[in-house]
Amino acid sequence: MRILPSLRRLVVSLSAIALGAALFAAPAASVEERVKELLGRMTLEEKVGQLVQYSSREDMTGPATASSIAPQMQSGGVGSMLNIVGAAETRKWQKLAVESSRLHIPLLFGLDVIHGYRTIFPIPLASAASWDLERIEKAERIAATEAAAAGINWTFAPMVDIARDPRWGRIAEGAGEDPYLGSAIARARVHGFQGDGSFATTETILACAKHFAAYGAAQAGRDYFTTDVTERVLREVYLPPFKAAVEAGVGTLMPAFNDLDGTPCSANPFLLDQVLRREWGFRGFLVSDWAAVEELRAHGNVTDLRDAAKKAFLAGMDVDMQSEAFGPYIAGLVRAGEIPPSRLDAAVGAILGAKFRLGLFDDPYRFSNEEREKTAMLHPESLEAARDLARRSMVLLKNNGVLPLRTADLTVALVGPLADAPLHQMGTWRGQGRKEDVVTVRTALEQIYPGRRLHYAYGCDVRGNDTQGIEKAKRAAVDSDVVVVAVGEDVYQTGESTSRTSLDLSGPQLALLKELNSAGKPIVLLLMTGRPLLLEAVEPLVDAILVAWHPGTMGGPAVADVLTGAYNPSGHLPLTWPRSVGQIPLFYAHKNSGRPAPLKQDDPYYSRYIDSLNTPSYPFGFGLSYTSFGYDRLRLSAPTIREGGAPLTVTARVTNIGKRAGEEVVQLYVRDRVGSVTRPVRELKGFKKIELAADESRDVEFSLTPADLAFWRADMTFGAEPGDFDVFVGGDSTAWLTMPFKLEASR
Ligand code: NOJ
Repeated sequence: MRILPSLRRLVVSLSAIALGAALFAAPAASVEERVKELLGRMTLEEKVGQLVQYSSREDMTGPATASSIAPQMQSGGVGSMLNIVGAAETRKWQKLAVESSRLHIPLLFGLDVIHGYRTIFPIPLASAASWDLERIEKAERIAATEAAAAGINWTFAPMVDIARDPRWGRIAEGAGEDPYLGSAIARARVHGFQGDGSFATTETILACAKHFAAYGAAQAGRDYFTTDVTERVLREVYLPPFKAAVEAGVGTLMPAFNDLDGTPCSANPFLLDQVLRREWGFRGFLVSDWAAVEELRAHGNVTDLRDAAKKAFLAGMDVDMQSEAFGPYIAGLVRAGEIPPSRLDAAVGAILGAKFRLGLFDDPYRFSNEEREKTAMLHPESLEAARDLARRSMVLLKNNGVLPLRTADLTVALVGPLADAPLHQMGTWRGQGRKEDVVTVRTALEQIYPGRRLHYAYGCDVRGNDTQGIEKAKRAAVDSDVVVVAVGEDVYQTGESTSRTSLDLSGPQLALLKELNSAGKPIVLLLMTGRPLLLEAVEPLVDAILVAWHPGTMGGPAVADVLTGAYNPSGHLPLTWPRSVGQIPLFYAHKNSGRPAPLKQDDPYYSRYIDSLNTPSYPFGFGLSYTSFGYDRLRLSAPTIREGGAPLTVTARVTNIGKRAGEEVVQLYVRDRVGSVTRPVRELKGFKKIELAADESRDVEFSLTPADLAFWRADMTFGAEPGDFDVFVGGDSTAWLTMPFKLEASR
């Protein structure tokens, strides 16, 4: 029996020598040539192997250990793995795949590197609030560099789902509610992860835009639930960030768990084939979400696992993450003539193409470098970038003058369950972030307010009903000049599978705030959260509200920077902040209706509530600074633009009318007054983040082209319609500075 493994090794080595001369092994040949030649050498089973992806996690279905998976690796039956981390560990599995299989095809190693690998950046919703594309891109590059050193060559990010329902916990993972902002951020993230797509350095890895599509439209905000989205809304709201990601060269996409117009996305030919491949020309490959192919059975559009494999694969799914559906069934389906061999070759060709581009055939271990792994993590510059992005992500919602806090002669009560909570500070999907790497708000403020100038008290839990610590917190408040109270959500309340029906502060956190309020000291609310939480009951109790989100490894120093004014806050909301759950979904780009909101709230028979205003607590795009900005002198280069003609230049003067330098997110919105279908009351069409010294004014220019005015018309063609428009410029989506213009048909 012992002779068998050595015999096998001999055969594999001899074949390696033979294959050394093969075209697919020649780095000088083009990727297309190499793919074609390799496909020609592969058996049907080896091709199917490329479609199979396993996780290493033992608590999940599927093979868990190297020994249990070895036979499948040896026969070329596995194409990629997920959740294996570390240079040594990935090297071990790569060695198994490359050395024991006939054609020595390397594995891809995927992981959810969502907002950092070891250096954890603010959650994606937070970084979207920075509106800072350059820094977002840089953060993803750092995440890619760290992950790549640990053997990861593929991240299941960016998540580009538009979300307009904060009951949905995964709102934390995206860029908010707006397709324009979402598309810009999608491009930045793809470029951050993938660079120019050549993977010439090991600072870039393959990205994956997910979850395709309309996953954020889950009915009632319940994760994984069904959607009911018209094709127009799908194309105008949910698809643009995916299209932007594809245009930015994203290598892979992940279809969403949900169904769409009755067909689960994982087996949806309209989405995966018609839109993605035919209309957008996508040439990469698709990976299913976890067990999503198998879940088609529960959706109820397939009869069994074989049928699920067939429908998903024919629709355009390429890699089966953890369903064990493609592995067992695709070869048989091809043999039975139910799947054309050309479809299999297209899928396998795209997967192999990615492996060639990543350089894995030339050096399967280029991403598994233990030396680099030692030095790549938590680099001082990476930590500084994390701190910088975190402070730029924070949104100041209220300030009656208590902020910034002076650093001399001040005693601070730091209170609340999230003030010293390294795990929660990292937020959902923490990659390989470690608690011990995190600098908490408490640690950071202790540096600034040493000794007895900082009174820390835990207060109460985020959840539960234990109120015992509240009294001590109140004493800390009484003994201090100002109270900073860090409340919000813990990591178990945000991210996947954490839908909520109540968006009130959970547990005794509101009781804590009330008690602190009775101490009579100014209160700064530090809201650490993965989504908007309702503030109507909270706002009157506090003097300032700073949304710090889940700010990551360097969140503590970033919070300290903002609280003390070392950094002047510049974040603006990437979503509308509702007053109540009853208003949801609430977003600024809504339709006008035939009975738009009344001037007087109690006018009946208008589109309104009898118990609430229509308006949000804080509008999309909103964010305060320690200075203020004035807008005037809105000008247009012409009153009219013409289809196919020169763009319209929109200029507004922005002035820093406060006493200190600050950054402003200057936003441009457009309204199309009349369309062949009803149009949103406003749509974001441009933004610029600028810095102005005190008293400084600047003309900020935007360029609007007729293409920017395009939409899905009544006949479902895409284009602009001549007519009257309004342009608005300002610091949030309620911008009042406005001028009309016309679009004329081309002559
Ligand atoms: C399920 C999630 O929906 C998806 O976003 C993630 O990439 C996969 N699991 C893999 O962890």
